[in-house]
Amino acid sequence: MAIEYGGTLPARNERYDVAVVEPDARHRMRIGTQLAGAEQFSSIEDLVQHLRTGRPLVAVFGPGLAVPYGFQQVHRLISAYPELGAVFAVEEVTTELLQQALRAGARDAVPVQDAESLGQAVERVGAVLTESSSRVPAIPTARPAPGRLIVVFSTKGGVGKSTIAVNVAVSMARHTSERIALVDADLQFGDVAVLLGIPPQHTVLDAAATADLGDAELLLTMLARHESGLLVLPAPTDPTGAPMLAEEMRSVCRALRLTCSHVVVDMPAQFDEVTLALVEAADDVLLVGGLDIPSVKNLKIGMQALDLAAVAGPKLRLVLNRANTQVKLDVREVEQVLGLRAEFPIPSDIAVPLSVNAGIPVVDHAPRSAATRALDHIATSLLGASDASRGKTKKRRGRRRKGSEERTR
Ligand SMILES: Nc1ncnc2c1ncn2[C@@H]1O[C@H](COP(=O)(O)OP(=O)(O)OP(=O)(O)O)[C@@H](O)[C@H]1O
Ligand SMILES: [Mg+2]
Repeated sequence: MAIEYGGTLPARNERYDVAVVEPDARHRMRIGTQLAGAEQFSSIEDLVQHLRTGRPLVAVFGPGLAVPYGFQQVHRLISAYPELGAVFAVEEVTTELLQQALRAGARDAVPVQDAESLGQAVERVGAVLTESSSRVPAIPTARPAPGRLIVVFSTKGGVGKSTIAVNVAVSMARHTSERIALVDADLQFGDVAVLLGIPPQHTVLDAAATADLGDAELLLTMLARHESGLLVLPAPTDPTGAPMLAEEMRSVCRALRLTCSHVVVDMPAQFDEVTLALVEAADDVLLVGGLDIPSVKNLKIGMQALDLAAVAGPKLRLVLNRANTQVKLDVREVEQVLGLRAEFPIPSDIAVPLSVNAGIPVVDHAPRSAATRALDHIATSLLGASDASRGKTKKRRGRRRKGSEERTR
């Protein structure tokens, strides 16, 4: 059933409307001011009286409704009006409250005092509502087969895993019209959000609560969107928080694969149950090493200790980062020691640290750099020739910030 108002609600934009529901007048005004153009209601009953068939609606429920009775009412409302997308704006977003809100059928919960997050949540939910209600969605939500899972892994820290995961994922998003997701599985020191210059809102921990509910579309609303179109799930901001279980991480990736053609995972330096689960579940394991002796030795020992050849076998694809480093190590020697072809060499490039300092991925910041060429090559290889032959490859929309490259040269 579609929804419309009694004609009084001003349109927030062309595609959907926004309403605020909160019994407390002070809170209601505050949220209403943050969401200029939204109609305000003091109760769910009041909102219902104004609902009629028509446009999609994002309803923001204030702190006064984030109580058991409020969740029940919202749940009934959403069951009756599936084209209504609900967001809770609450005093504090705890995992428990987020779960209650999601179980009630809401698509998000954000802190009421954070106007920017609230606005972004409304936009995300509005986008999902209009995408799923449009007759011919630009991108089908459910995929015929699960998307590919690509983990970027090494037995050594600091070799360039995050650099590679972030840039390959952005490059993939720029090369295809399919959905690409990037997950930061480095739960303690994850820096994917920083490398992309996006503020983390919901993290993998929140996504785990959502994935639990088995709603793939709901999970999509949790993801931050990079300007390339890449969907991003950052690591928790508090590294001392509750650890994540291997099964939780696996279910997040499983749920993402239902709607994304490729899910790229940036892995931590340590090998634990979570990383093992992901390496096992992966379709491609980008194993990152360097051309220096300690790096190759470490990789070799690590591979043997983890019996990586048995666990990942043909899925292993060797990425040699900083492959032009001035140390006398021959690529062929490395290939022999590791028993793997050096499929993807990436040169050491000053453009990489410069782009990190700018908070922009190097593939955007320095599109003509040597590092970008190598990273683009990995991305297009992973996307596979099949994409191009189906005519789904996106024309590069011209990288933004072109002038910035000149500064790096
Ligand atoms: N090809 C390259 N050329 C120049 N600098 C690079 C290159 N690749 C990575 N770096 C730099 O090396 C450092 C480590 O990279 P990165 O953080 O990606 O490694 P990591 O493997 O994710 O580290 P960790 O194990 O701590 O997660 C960063 O400062 C990054 O800018
Ligand atoms: Mg890293």
